Amino acid sequence: MNNHLLSQWEANAGAFAQLINGKGTPHHRKILNPCINRLMGDVKGKKILDAGCGEGYLSRVYTEKGANVVGVDFSPKLIALSQKKFADLDIEFLVADICQLDPLKDNQFDIVLCNLVLLNIECLDKSLQEFYRVLRPGGFLIFSVVHPAFNVYGPGRWELGEKIKNTGRRKGQYFVIDQYFTEKEFQVLWKSRKGDGFPQKFSFFHRTISTYVNQVIDTGFRLTILKEPLPIMDAKFFDRERRIPFFLVVKAEKP
Ligand SMILES: C[S@@+](CC[C@H](N)C(=O)[O-])C[C@H]1O[C@@H](n2cnc3c(N)ncnc32)[C@H](O)[C@@H]1O
Repeated sequence: MNNHLLSQWEANAGAFAQLINGKGTPHHRKILNPCINRLMGDVKGKKILDAGCGEGYLSRVYTEKGANVVGVDFSPKLIALSQKKFADLDIEFLVADICQLDPLKDNQFDIVLCNLVLLNIECLDKSLQEFYRVLRPGGFLIFSVVHPAFNVYGPGRWELGEKIKNTGRRKGQYFVIDQYFTEKEFQVLWKSRKGDGFPQKFSFFHRTISTYVNQVIDTGFRLTILKEPLPIMDAKFFDRERRIPFFLVVKAEKP
């Protein structure tokens, strides 16, 4: 286990749980989750691993839809919060590192859901191998990451366009990206548009889309779909997210 990554999540656990607040941010609710829901399909009676479950709201969502969910996270603080928050529901929450899921037996899950976690870990290869191991044949993995090509906390940023003569204003705004092929760890201090944020920097690992996809294939999965979800129709303030994709979602099957 990588200790600096764990101590970042432990330090940010309270602020993260507050941000998610049992329902996710507007980006989750209006862009990512509708896509994830469609890919999950009918989960009634299915056994699901919520890998890197955070404060556990997706474990709750799929439990309420009739699934049997195990939520794992390496942060003892986040697991304690989930256990407390969702104590009235039949969800098993465990402290475990997704790079080494020793407590979990082989071939037992119908679905592994790993929402916005793989960009926070160093061991992409090991975690995919563990997901493959614990899935039953015919089961599938769904994971999402912040879109690797358009991540403002990584090699990209928004910039204002050209100066408009004699006005002091600028025309339009554009997403600028450089060093896309340089895969490395970034440390960011997260702040929302409203100005609230996390007390400590946390790491994420920039990787190219081909690294993610080829690692999935090399692990033995059959890639079934790749999605770059748009905001749902009633989401009014996602102008930028309608111009370039904010998330990348992958679904793959264990043959
Ligand atoms: C951005 S949060 C996403 C949480 C949740 N999946 C959601 O959608 O709200 C990333 C989560 O991954 C967890 N995490 C990071 N590295 C992990 C690892 N190696 N094993 C298990 N959990 C990990 C963090 O503690 C954090 O809860």
